[in-house]
Amino acid sequence: MRQDQRPPSRKRLVRVCLNGRWREDAVPDHLLLVDYLRETAALTGTKTGCDGGECGACMVLVDSVPVPACITLAVRCDGRAVETIEGLAAGDGLHRLQRAFHEHLGTQCGFCTPGMIMSAAALLRRNARPTDAEIREALSGNLCRCTGYVKIVESVRAAVDEAP
Ligand code: FES
Ligand code: FES
Repeated sequence: MRQDQRPPSRKRLVRVCLNGRWREDAVPDHLLLVDYLRETAALTGTKTGCDGGECGACMVLVDSVPVPACITLAVRCDGRAVETIEGLAAGDGLHRLQRAFHEHLGTQCGFCTPGMIMSAAALLRRNARPTDAEIREALSGNLCRCTGYVKIVESVRAAVDEAP
């Protein structure tokens, strides 16, 4: 269909609890969650990699479940809680996962790191004491081109071991 033959995109009012605060935005039906986060909400910690649901760079939590934001429509998040890397830390201090990735060299170029950390955060909520195999399984939807994953798993392990 030619561009000028397409029906105009409709906008819908969407209410999202974004990093603990409710907000309302009028968004086009076709707007992807990753674009809503980066462009409407100015939260650029969520990255776009493959843009096709395969690399995990755009992983965020929707109602505590890791979801690739590049294949999720913003309107599907109406009435739901969305969490991004910006919302993970409480106050000025880093979240223990963020600190562990920094201290244990789980980050090199850093592009995959927000998605990795969000997947790991979801894991730690449902399983406070995961094994290394469970950590690898939880991160299996997140690709890294730099680290070889050993440092990433060590970082999550360090965050687990830091918990009381
Ligand atoms: Fe979303 Fe790769 S950018 S999964
Ligand atoms: Fe570079 Fe993972 S640290 S892609």
